[in-house]
Amino acid sequence: KRSLDAVILAHFYQEPDIQDIADVIGDSLALAQAAARTSARTIVFCGVHFMAETAKILNPDKLVLLPDVNAGCSLADSCPAPAFERFIAAHPGHHVVSYINCSAQVKALSDVICTSGNAARVIATVPRERPIIFAPDQQLGRYLIRMTGRDMVLWPGSCSVHVTFSERQIRRLKDENPGALVLAHPECEERVLALADHVGSTTSILRYATGSPASTFIVVTEAGLIHQMKKACPDKRFIPAPPESGCACNECPYMRLNTLEKVYLCMRDRQPEISLPEDLRQRCLVPLQRMLDIGAG
Ligand code: 13P
Ligand code: SF4
Repeated sequence: KRSLDAVILAHFYQEPDIQDIADVIGDSLALAQAAARTSARTIVFCGVHFMAETAKILNPDKLVLLPDVNAGCSLADSCPAPAFERFIAAHPGHHVVSYINCSAQVKALSDVICTSGNAARVIATVPRERPIIFAPDQQLGRYLIRMTGRDMVLWPGSCSVHVTFSERQIRRLKDENPGALVLAHPECEERVLALADHVGSTTSILRYATGSPASTFIVVTEAGLIHQMKKACPDKRFIPAPPESGCACNECPYMRLNTLEKVYLCMRDRQPEISLPEDLRQRCLVPLQRMLDIGAG
């Protein structure tokens, strides 16, 4: 790490071993902000492709490494840029707000980027009379329509991990654990969010649990977040919400492609390296910089 002059950024959904060696652990917004301000010459991004790509958009002259180049995102994949371009053309005059979980090509078609940590604040900057397209997550979009009172045209994308959480299983866990609070990410379906005591980004879920007097929490997001929750609150109990089938689908299969060994190997070999054409990078930088200027929620 010293010889590369590297900073290691890790998302909360990374396996605990990776979180424990990271310099910065955070949600998508905090990691984008950390990438924007780092003076390190190399960024090792322990997360998924769109996150590392965001770091590269902000740092064209730095070496940006992603431990497993196949660490994609089902949500980003649910919005192919050519189809999205046609969708925008079919809705002339709309302000395009895109969730950061999208490809560089989709970012380049957008007016402003947001994360789940600042989406309501970003939407509040759009003039009231201007109609909005929100992409690619329809669940987050519906949640934001309820929160902001702004009608928006939604791209029909979803996260395959968050839509598998089962309302039935969460009700069962609530019955079995009276007093437990339900904390959910807004990428979950509306009927799951309806059971939640708190809805927010991964950082906001962590903060809520830390500040709450309650002692037991049902965590309805990728189970990796529980590692930091346990560290912050060793006396509290965190129950990962199960999907319907009881499989390990509450772990993001893309995030979990990264392993501690692959982190080491990518630093040793200085690859896989993230790169993107300069004209595309510049087009992505405009909406991304707008988000960074707006700041946190
Ligand atoms: P956060 O920005 O809340 O960390 O969410 C990232 C993500 O990929 C959720 O699935
Ligand atoms: Fe993408 Fe969902 Fe994984 Fe987040 S949890 S990185 S949205 S597939």
